This record gives sequence, C-alpha cells and structure tokens, in this order.
Amino acid sequence: MPRPHITPDLSDYDPNAPLNRAQTLPARWYTEPAFYATEQQKIFGATWQLVARIDQVSAPGDYLTFELGGEPLVLIRQANGQLAVLSNVCRHRASLLLQGSGKALKSMLCPYHGWNYDLQGKLSGAREFQEALDWKKENVCLPRFSVDTFGPYVFAHLGPNPPALSETLGNIPREIAESNHDLGRFTFTERRDYVIECNWKVYVENYQEGYHLPIVHPALFREVDYDRYRIDNYPTYSYHDAPLRKYSESDPRTQNRRYGQAGVELRTLYYWIYPNLMFNIYPDNLSMNLIVPLGPEKTLTRFEWFYTPEYLEKGPGWLQDNLAFGEQVQQEDIRICELVQRGLRSQTYHSGRLSPKRENGVHHFHKLVHASLSR
Ligand code: FES
Ligand SMILES: [Fe+2]
Repeated sequence: MPRPHITPDLSDYDPNAPLNRAQTLPARWYTEPAFYATEQQKIFGATWQLVARIDQVSAPGDYLTFELGGEPLVLIRQANGQLAVLSNVCRHRASLLLQGSGKALKSMLCPYHGWNYDLQGKLSGAREFQEALDWKKENVCLPRFSVDTFGPYVFAHLGPNPPALSETLGNIPREIAESNHDLGRFTFTERRDYVIECNWKVYVENYQEGYHLPIVHPALFREVDYDRYRIDNYPTYSYHDAPLRKYSESDPRTQNRRYGQAGVELRTLYYWIYPNLMFNIYPDNLSMNLIVPLGPEKTLTRFEWFYTPEYLEKGPGWLQDNLAFGEQVQQEDIRICELVQRGLRSQTYHSGRLSPKRENGVHHFHKLVHASLSR
C-alpha cells in the first residue's frame, strides 16, 4: 500500500459552513504537490475506481495494466472466468510484471529474472532459489484487491474492507433502468482522451454546476431547460436533473434543436460519482467521463461514448456530427478549466463564495474531499 506521509494542513477550509456561507476550497489545494500525494492515497486509493470496460478483458488470460493511487496493478480474467485485480509488482526485486495490455496464456513471467506467476498471482516458478532459507515458493503471492462490475465497466478498490460497489452507486442503477434507458443496448463506439492543464478538482467542480451553462456552452444551453436544472446530492454521488427544453414553434430558443421533438418530454440523466466519474445519458447515447490526476496541475479526462443500434444505423456522418457536439462542449470546458487553474496560482486569490442556488454540487464535492483528506 502507499507509504504514509504528512497530510497537508486542512484548517483553512471549514466543512461545517452551510452553503450560503461556504467558501470554496483554498487555492493552494489545487497547486501544492502535498495535496496531490495525499489525494492519491486518501481519495483515489480509498474509493471504487473505474478501471476498464468489461469487453477489454473478455476472455481468460486477457489483461490490462493500470495504476490507482500510484499503485501498479493488473486486471486479469482468470481461467475460471472471474476477474482479478493483482499487484503488478514482482515479489522478488520489484520489477513491474506486465506492461500495457494483452493475453497471458497460462502464467505471468517477470521480465527481470524470470519468476513465474499463475493467473491467480501465486508464484509457480523461481529459478535457482533452492538454497534460500526460511522461504517457500508456496508462500509467495501477488497482493489482490477488490473488483466488481457495473454496466459495461470494471471497478477496483484498493482499500482493505471496501463497501460494496452497489452501496457507492446507490439508486443509480435503478434510476437508469426506470428511465427507459437500457444500458445493455448501448454499444461502445468511441474513446477520446484529453490532457488538461488544471488540477483534477477544477474539472470536477466545473461538471458539478450548471451555473456556467449559459455563458460557456451556448449550444448546450439551447437544449437544456436551465431554469429547471437541479442537482441532488447523495452521500457518494450527485444526480443532475437536466430536462431538455420542450420544443416550441414560438420560442426562438428552441429552434436549431438537436433533441427537439414537439410534445415529447425528453430527459437527460447526469450522474457524478465521487470522486472522479461521470455518466451522461442522453436519448441517443451514453457517455462516460473519467477524471484522472496526472500531477498537481495536469489531468487526463477520458471520454467514452456508447450508442444504441438505431442511432448507429444512421451512419458515420450522423455519428461524427453527434460526437462533434460532445467535442464542442468539452473544448469549451477545457478552455475555462485552464483559465481557472491559471487564476488559482495568483497571489491575490485565496478562495471564493458559492451561489446557493446553483453551486450546491460544488459544495458537496468540497465537503467530500475534506472528509476524505481528514481521515
Ligand atoms: S524482479 Fe522479478 S524475477 Fe527478479
Ligand atoms: Fe461545462
């Protein structure tokens, strides 16, 4: 597990202030390396994290390496069909075992001195070790971590006794099922990665409010009924109720609509799951956003899109147009997040205030971050 280190001073944020008095997190929380290191351990190493699509490890032996909270790991499909998340660190002298993704036929061979592990992580071969005292091959095993699935995705948790994934997801699976969106009908269609020059919390906060919609996203603003946009907070996630505008001949704001249909009330479901995962469900597509810190001021956002068969049949032109809509919104968000990060480095800015009407989701996120870091 990650080594203990000194937790940064958290006393410049008051998590008990009510929303109408609350300050934002202090600017230094977004720039100082000590926060980044502590977050890796206490946030990313202590929550369920989305690590792969199930289809990336569909057959026995399929593996995918990744890192969580700074820990090198491998997700591997075992001979019995079960998924396992194992440490990807050889127990001999710590070389990484596997790289990238691929298929391990029966075993995992260390590239340094050739120790061999079976797919369950048990050491099955160690060259020239007969003379080692107080050492038994049978006692050597790669540490194993919790793994579970939801929809098309695999999740892992590094903690010793994690809550069930279903506890973290709360009402989300039921609400999706009840909303006429059938996750089983969505097909993985596209992945795009964006590296953004900002702290990961800046990107999450931007997602967690609709306040910027009219200013930053004019095209999205035409689709969403801003007046009714509302965020409900739950212990481990937030739900954004984002009704689409009703199409009306007389309202010019509803012209040039992507999802406009006279007389039909369409809903989008937006979920943010603490700390760094979003699911956006539109009538025609589901998109997943995973926010991965790469450094104090550098963040990977990974987007994956899934479409229903009817929409995919509309052909590549339609798909490109639809993806371009998501791309436009993302570029608008990237630009604004990078402007925020530059502002957070200012000597003159310490923290700000939140709109009680529009920024309850940001406040919820701040309190969860504080609670994780104080543990
Ligand atoms: S480090 Fe793996 S066999 Fe030596
Ligand atoms: Fe946005």
